[in-house]
Amino acid sequence: MGFHMETSQTTSLEFYKQLKAEGLKKLATVYTSIKDTLNMIRPALAKNDSILDLACGYGRVTIPLALEGYKIQGLDLSETLLKEARHDAVNAGLAIKWRQGDMCALPYRAGTFNKILCLWCSFNHLLYRDDQIAALKEMYRVLGPTGTALVEMFYGEDSDLKSDPAYQPPFYCSNLEGVINRIFVHTERSFMDLLKTADIANSRLVFGTIGTKKRMILWMTK
Ligand SMILES: C[S@@+](CC[C@H](N)C(=O)[O-])C[C@H]1O[C@@H](n2cnc3c(N)ncnc32)[C@H](O)[C@@H]1O
Repeated sequence: MGFHMETSQTTSLEFYKQLKAEGLKKLATVYTSIKDTLNMIRPALAKNDSILDLACGYGRVTIPLALEGYKIQGLDLSETLLKEARHDAVNAGLAIKWRQGDMCALPYRAGTFNKILCLWCSFNHLLYRDDQIAALKEMYRVLGPTGTALVEMFYGEDSDLKSDPAYQPPFYCSNLEGVINRIFVHTERSFMDLLKTADIANSRLVFGTIGTKKRMILWMTK
């Protein structure tokens, strides 16, 4: 006799295994914009920063930033996507460190990075409060003394999301490329409450648009 126990990690792994990098690359053309993303993050980066692209996927952002000369490495849960990242990086002549891992239990020593990027709603894949708190605390732990983490998320007041029948609260379901995924969407207020529980003091939330999509962006400073 057995039972299925769903976790944020098993849900995401299965979703991206089915979607593959090819499917995610197609979604990127609709749900995000590399130009807007780079414009948002570049002012926060310095060339001697040690940068982690957390939940880097197939390296959509990691590879362009490495090509610009930034010292960046990538971590993702999905070996399927990392395989594509490794392949594309080698083709571009880049020696980027990639690691498979979980953002709720990072395989890095305290203070390893001075910038962490967690982009295009990767944080929304954490379906449970305990996972969300663990990920915030892990980002804080691996940040150096004056480090900054930037977390870009879908958020609950987004009218685009609310009017989309594919999204139902409190766990919004997305049916993308015929594959079902579940994500968790915070409102500004519920996210502020999460930060308080995670004991993250130095942070601010800003609201912006990436491509045509509204986003809530956490800037967390150590
Ligand atoms: C929408 S994609 C975004 C990828 C990348 N950040 C970008 O901007 O192109 C979400 C990513 O989150 C990753 N992910 C989901 N849950 C994760 C976890 N617990 N730890 C690490 N990565 C995770 C997925 O494997 C996927 O690559």
